[in-house]
Amino acid sequence: MEVIIVDNELMVARTAADLVSDLVSAQPSAVLGVATGSSPVGLYQELSRRVNSGELSLERCSAFMLDEYVGLGAEHPASYRRFIEEKLVEPTDLPPANVHGPDGSASDLVAECDAYEKAIASCGGVDLQILGIGTDGHIGFNEPASSLSSRTRIKTLTHQTRLDNSRFFDGDIDRVPHHCLTQGIGTIMDARTIVLVATGRKKADAIHRIVEGPVTARWPGSQLQHHPHVTVVVDEAAASEL
Ligand code: GLP
Repeated sequence: MEVIIVDNELMVARTAADLVSDLVSAQPSAVLGVATGSSPVGLYQELSRRVNSGELSLERCSAFMLDEYVGLGAEHPASYRRFIEEKLVEPTDLPPANVHGPDGSASDLVAECDAYEKAIASCGGVDLQILGIGTDGHIGFNEPASSLSSRTRIKTLTHQTRLDNSRFFDGDIDRVPHHCLTQGIGTIMDARTIVLVATGRKKADAIHRIVEGPVTARWPGSQLQHHPHVTVVVDEAAASEL
């Protein structure tokens, strides 16, 4: 695990964007794994800036989302599909047909999870997975006590995660779904490279636990210590407990 500590949020975005840009210049049809949440937003803005200035093109790339809330279709303003369309797909001209996500409104959610695993495999797997981290150490929506070898499946969200994410639901925790579909930790670990971004004091404990703590299902991100190509890009505040 390589840990890069930079001064601030802007530098986190630029450093992570350099890693994505390097991959895409070497491999223009790279398969990206894309995360939601506020952590990667600066990175997506920086990628968009590079696309608009002609430095980068994502038009041959494809992308797989990590997760989605159960019950929220693409038209819901707080769905992750909508988030990825607004923050990444539209600003970077990533072709929408190349962007895949688990469908939280599918009638058969178990079949949807199986089909999603197959879709990732049929594209040859993820070349570079972008990750954020939850305050409780979750990656994707793999909450504490998730199996470290789990695959895409239905999960129940913890109270803490619903509270943390209620800001995307007008601050109303009652509107945050209780369930989600998420790539498993095993699915995430299959990506050939992983870039995790985190900023702010609120993430300092989780960063300390996953980087320096023991590998444990209590802190799901700690499993990344077993991945051969992980870069953790953090600002000083998120690194303050290292
Ligand atoms: C959600 C997402 C995760 C994300 C986490 C942290 O739970 N499922 O992929 O890493 O939030 O979000 P934020 O970056 O907004 O703190």
